[in-house]
Amino acid sequence: MSSDQSTDQTAAGHRLVVAVDGPSSSGKSTVGAEVARRLGYRFCDTGLLYRAVAWLAVERGIAPDQTSALVPLAGEVQLVVDKRGRLRHVEAAGRDVTVEVRGPAVDRAVSDYSKVPELRAALVPRQRALAADGGIIMAGRDIGTVILPNADVKIYLHASPEERARRRAAQRKLAADGAAASGILEDMRRRDTIDSERETAPLRSAEDAIVVKTDGNTFKQTVAAVIRTIREAEAAGGGNRGR
Ligand code: DC
Repeated sequence: MSSDQSTDQTAAGHRLVVAVDGPSSSGKSTVGAEVARRLGYRFCDTGLLYRAVAWLAVERGIAPDQTSALVPLAGEVQLVVDKRGRLRHVEAAGRDVTVEVRGPAVDRAVSDYSKVPELRAALVPRQRALAADGGIIMAGRDIGTVILPNADVKIYLHASPEERARRRAAQRKLAADGAAASGILEDMRRRDTIDSERETAPLRSAEDAIVVKTDGNTFKQTVAAVIRTIREAEAAGGGNRGR
């Protein structure tokens, strides 16, 4: 096994709480999951919770403004821990919908559901409970600002909309200059606007977050930059919590 693929056992004893925020397709989940694997942390992608609620709401014909029907859906979604302690699957109404929630229908709808303050409030304690034992990297939009304001390390992954659209097009095996790719860029900008201009818990970098710029980076370079940041906090005795 190359050193790249191995889990870093020296860090396995640390139990820091790491918040990773950033816009859609900034690499939060892929980078966060890889860093967690390398450092022996758990990884939680909170976007899966919002996506599962949006999926369920669309299935049941519940609109974002039907708050009293929407909020109880938060109690029907949950992240599922696998045998290795990973939180990579999400269930809605008892069914694994991990694949469905990443489809274009949910992509289009999810920002409008996730701006509903009552729904966000219902999901706060669920996310905090997941981080209570430490040793976790939690990714989202408001983790460092609202969900875990005392996180030991806060990272904000920055990437331009153009770079993120290119990555998403490549993931979907679309030509970077085609009509489908420019549709992705338009959709990305629309979601950025909704996510960062909503009144409750808008997407923004926490004041004490370390901004990691990823434009032009390879995946490996971004992973290395995030690992460096966490290791420095570990060496300093626990980042924000230790201050
Ligand atoms: O990261 P993502 O693209 O899977 O997120 C899906 C949606 O959920 C996105 O519109 C923003 C929202 N979200 C949020 O508002 N707060 C979070 N902590 C995570 C995701």
